[in-house]
Amino acid sequence: PAFFQVAIDGPASAGKSTIAKILAQNLHFVYVDTGAMYRAVTVAAKKAGLSYEDEAGITALLPKITIEFKPGTPVQRVFLNGQEVTDEIRSTETTNNVSLVSSYAAVRKDMVNKQREMTEKNPVIMDGRDIGTTVLPNAQVKIFLVASVDERAERRYKENKQKGMAVDLKTLKEEIEARDYKDSHRAISPLTKADDAIVVDTTGIGIDQVVAKIKTIIEEHQ
Ligand code: C5P
Repeated sequence: PAFFQVAIDGPASAGKSTIAKILAQNLHFVYVDTGAMYRAVTVAAKKAGLSYEDEAGITALLPKITIEFKPGTPVQRVFLNGQEVTDEIRSTETTNNVSLVSSYAAVRKDMVNKQREMTEKNPVIMDGRDIGTTVLPNAQVKIFLVASVDERAERRYKENKQKGMAVDLKTLKEEIEARDYKDSHRAISPLTKADDAIVVDTTGIGIDQVVAKIKTIIEEHQ
């Protein structure tokens, strides 16, 4: 690739976006949160009054969808057709339906095209499920970020609590496991580790340490 590419994949709530965002800031790379894009399509379906099961309807919606990112703290701001959906894409309803919407062939094709376009002018750090395997198979660095399901549920629980969202830990754990199962078992580009990806286990490790570790890996490949 002409510009440097870092692919970060892994299961839900492994810390991908937190880590990727910090790394992108440190290295002056563009950060692309592909999960936010699938979430935005899921919100678009809802706004259009479509059922999440309506693959044909959602497919027909795709040419009318624009997704933009703008800098924000603590998370990037996300705009769907010019309208801010930063919070809506993280709602429980969106989270529990995004795996279905992202399993549709046309949705994946469209998002992958958009994601590849974003690598044409800048070095990128892209996080998701199929970045190392499908979107950027020639990425210079591929990381597969994992953590125990208990720790991932705890992290999501704390995050939700800060936002004032009340969901108990057990339910969160079940939802994370259900989403991982669907994402790993879908027909098209399921969540799997690329052969040449480096596994980084973040269980019991702080954000700073994970960032430092991946930064070292990137420097070794530059
Ligand atoms: O990363 P995040 O948890 O926000 O992703 C939300 C969902 O979007 C995932 O559970 C998965 O269904 C879908 N996704 C995907 N491919 C990607 C990124 C996310 O299918 N590259």
